[in-house]
Amino acid sequence: MSGYPTIRPRRLRRTAALRRMVRETAPRVDQLIAPLFIRHGRGLQRPISSMPGHAQLSVDMAVREAEALAELGIPAVLLFGIPAYKDSIGSENFDPEGIVPQAAYAIKRAVPELVIISDMCCCEYTDHGHCGIINMPGSQHYDEHLAEGYLLNDPTLEVLGNASVVHAQAGADIIAPSGMIDGMVARIRTALDLAGLHQTAIMSYAAKFASSFYGPFRDAAESPPGFGDRSGYQMDPANRREALREVALDVDEGADMLMVKPALAYLDIISQVREQFPLPLAAYQVSGEYSMVKAAAEKGWIDERRVALESLTAIARAGADMIITYWAKDAAKWLRA
Ligand code: PBG
Repeated sequence: MSGYPTIRPRRLRRTAALRRMVRETAPRVDQLIAPLFIRHGRGLQRPISSMPGHAQLSVDMAVREAEALAELGIPAVLLFGIPAYKDSIGSENFDPEGIVPQAAYAIKRAVPELVIISDMCCCEYTDHGHCGIINMPGSQHYDEHLAEGYLLNDPTLEVLGNASVVHAQAGADIIAPSGMIDGMVARIRTALDLAGLHQTAIMSYAAKFASSFYGPFRDAAESPPGFGDRSGYQMDPANRREALREVALDVDEGADMLMVKPALAYLDIISQVREQFPLPLAAYQVSGEYSMVKAAAEKGWIDERRVALESLTAIARAGADMIITYWAKDAAKWLRA
């Protein structure tokens, strides 16, 4: 009696209702986090050509979008800023009048229940496009033992700590450091606590890979590296054990939530982090994952909605509690329908 013909798994696939009863995973609106790109100005909605359906928004337009997202039941937004000026240390990142603090303040006032997450990184703000302070002869932090152009770890921590306090004071509920700088979580926790911001949480991009799937984002955030690439700080896509070690370090440093990024090509990492760590886990379905589907759908080669929902289901099945996705708004509508 242990197999066919007695056992027939197809019995439970016979009708839609049966399939619905035995379905193990479904992405939920509660899991979705919507990224927003904010720039200075008023009434602006500048379409991002590499990410159809997304635009850089001025603060007033971002507030409207945040209201629409909250209306759909989406619990959180992830803010990225396009600054008015860029310099070697990314000063606008820790300017209280900077673009993300302005947006966080305005969104928090208009939609207080919406969770505001600030992507904490330097690459959008630096003139060289790297995620921290770069080793340069003549500059304040120059280290002759390191190569010119090397990303200086510890001076970068100071910037991240200061900017995190500014973003949190403006209204960010969660700081999400995304630079893969050693010690970033501990440093940000200390800076927040010293400023009395004990309730501001940290969602660490704990295992972030040096991925070519970020291509369209760099267009959206105007943040491509001016020279070289990010493989000196982001992780090698080949490494699974190292990802678990990175996650363990961030847990020790006081992260409240973890993240794996990208998502679909890294489901094994998501699954293993879920098994080994009890903290809430986010997965970032990145720009390339979105734009590839958009492009193929425009050609009529695949069904966007089905592929997007299948991907979101797979990411949830792998073990993600939260999913950062450019389909957040569409998915919220699809899942409601
Ligand atoms: C860094 C950051 C990046 C993304 C999120 N945060 C770019 C990078 O690491 O180069 C990529 C997100 C995406 O591709 O959707 N601020």
